Order: sequence, then C-alpha cells, then structure tokens
Amino acid sequence: MTFAKTLTKVIGAATLLAGVVALSNLTARAEEEQPNPTRQQWTFAGAFGKYDKAQLQRGFKIYKEVCSNCHELHIPIRTLAQPGGPELSVDEVKALAASYTVKDGPNSSGEMFDRPGRPSDYFPAPFANPEAAAAALGSAPPDMSLLAKARKYERGFPAFVFDALPVPGGMYQELGPDYIYAILHGYEKDEDPNWNAYFPGHKIAMAKPLTDGQVDYTDGTPATLDQYAKDVASFLYWAAEPTLEDRKSLGVKVMIFLLVLSCLMYFTKRTIWSDVAH
Ligand code: HEC
Repeated sequence: MTFAKTLTKVIGAATLLAGVVALSNLTARAEEEQPNPTRQQWTFAGAFGKYDKAQLQRGFKIYKEVCSNCHELHIPIRTLAQPGGPELSVDEVKALAASYTVKDGPNSSGEMFDRPGRPSDYFPAPFANPEAAAAALGSAPPDMSLLAKARKYERGFPAFVFDALPVPGGMYQELGPDYIYAILHGYEKDEDPNWNAYFPGHKIAMAKPLTDGQVDYTDGTPATLDQYAKDVASFLYWAAEPTLEDRKSLGVKVMIFLLVLSCLMYFTKRTIWSDVAH
C-alpha cells in the first residue's frame, strides 16, 4: 500500500519535472526565433511613476513630424493641454488645431467642406480609410491611440508571476513601450529594409521610420535614434493612458490608508482583549 503510494508520488513528481523541462525548452526555442524586447527605464513605471512633460512634448514632435504621415492617432487635439500630459498651453493647442484641415458638414446645401481644426477635433487621419493606407503602404499602419497598451509579448514562467507582484523589478506594465522602442531599433539587416528583429515573423511593411538627427530638438536633448525612440514610446504610452498619474497617486493613497487602518484595528483589538487572561 505505502509502496504503491510512494511510487505514484515519484511518478507524479517525475512527470511534473519532465513537463517543466519541456516547457522551458519550448520558451528557449521561441526566444531564439523571436527575441523579447529588452526592458527600458521609464519615468512612468512603478507605484510612483510620473510622465516627464518635456519628454512627452518631444515625443509629440516626433509623432507629428514622422509617424503621423502614416499612422492615425485617434484622440482629441485638446487632450495635449490636459494636466498630467504634455501640457501645452491653451493658445498652443488652438494654434496647433488650426494648423490642421478638418472635413466637416454637410452644410445647408448638403455638401461636405473643409475648415481649420478646433481643439475639440480629433487628429485627422493620414488616409481616408485603412484600405487606402494598405494600398499605399502594403499593409495598414495600426492606429496609435492604444498601441502602447495593446502590444504585449510572452514573458514566460516565472517572469510573468513576478511582473504582477510588488517586489524589486516587479509591477512590470511597460511591455508596450518596450516593444515600440525595440521595433524602432530592430532594423538589423541592411540588405532587407523590411526585416525587423522584434516584429512577429520579422517581415514588417514599415521601413525604418527614424534615424539619428532626423528630428530637431530645441531643448538640448541629444537628437539620436535612441532618444527619439524613448520619447515617442513615452508619448504613445501617455496617449493610451492619459490618466496614469491620477491612478497611481490614488493607489498610493489607498495603500497608506489601509496601512493606517490596519494599525488602528490592531490597537483596538489589543484594548478590547486586554483584560482577558491568556
Ligand atoms: C511610411 C509610413 C510609416 C511611417 C512614417 C511610420 N510607420 Fe509605423 N507602420 C507603418 C506600417 C505600414 C505598419 C504596419 C506594418 C505591418 O503590419 O507589417 C507600421 C507598424 C508599426 C508598428 C508595429 C505595430 C504592430 O502592429 O505591432 C509600430 C510599433 C510602429 N509602426 C511605430 C511607428 C512609429 C513610432 C513611427 C514614427 C516614429 C512610425 N511607426 C512611422 C507605416 C509607417
């Protein structure tokens, strides 16, 4: 009886071990074919994370001068003036909006017409529809308003467990910006402009969009691909999560409240039970 039980246990443990080994082999093979983006330092990571306003402004400049030629960013222009973002002034946002031409209508004779943009308008799309974009570029560029939150990659076991925990190196939520940063760095084959190390399957319809020195920075920040990639990925993360700072500061307040409440409960308990012998 006991022998049978021990045998079952041994077989069970062996199967589990074989399973774990097979799984780690699989992940190792997948990593060989498709490297994971490397983790970057972001100002908005962690429980006390905040956006760097100047960085978001630079990131917006890159989006406007480069990415917006192909990618739509479906957010209202006025959000750039909101607190916790690039925080352009109201006048700057008005001028920015007016620099776009927006289709409106129909007017009283039933026709659509063009007019200068207003802060409440959305950033206009570079193509009339995704089909037109795909016809021009080979594949439709995804809308950027949620891109930085929508892209994730497999972290594998046990990393994904630690990613969720409040431990050093944990609470990892910035997979999207890491991915965008990696894509902008992933053009490693000179002979094939559409090969990208980090794009699933390696064949990307977008040719390398950014190189050193392409966009002028006026605040003395180095005009390098590395800096551009960090700035534009930060900007896109803000676009996908404009209320991050509120969410994080509320989280910290709730934790402090719970800590104080636990102390109070503990001392209440001690007082209530103080005259009971134990
Ligand atoms: C010349 C047009 C063009 C420009 C400019 C451009 N892109 Fe793209 N981008 C594309 C196309 C087309 C795709 C779709 C690629 C595919 O599906 O193969 C794409 C895809 C991407 C992807 C991968 C999205 C995914 O589905 O995982 C990222 C990230 C990206 N672009 C970021 C950027 C950033 C950041 C900029 C500005 C610095 C930029 N792009 C500028 C055309 C462009």
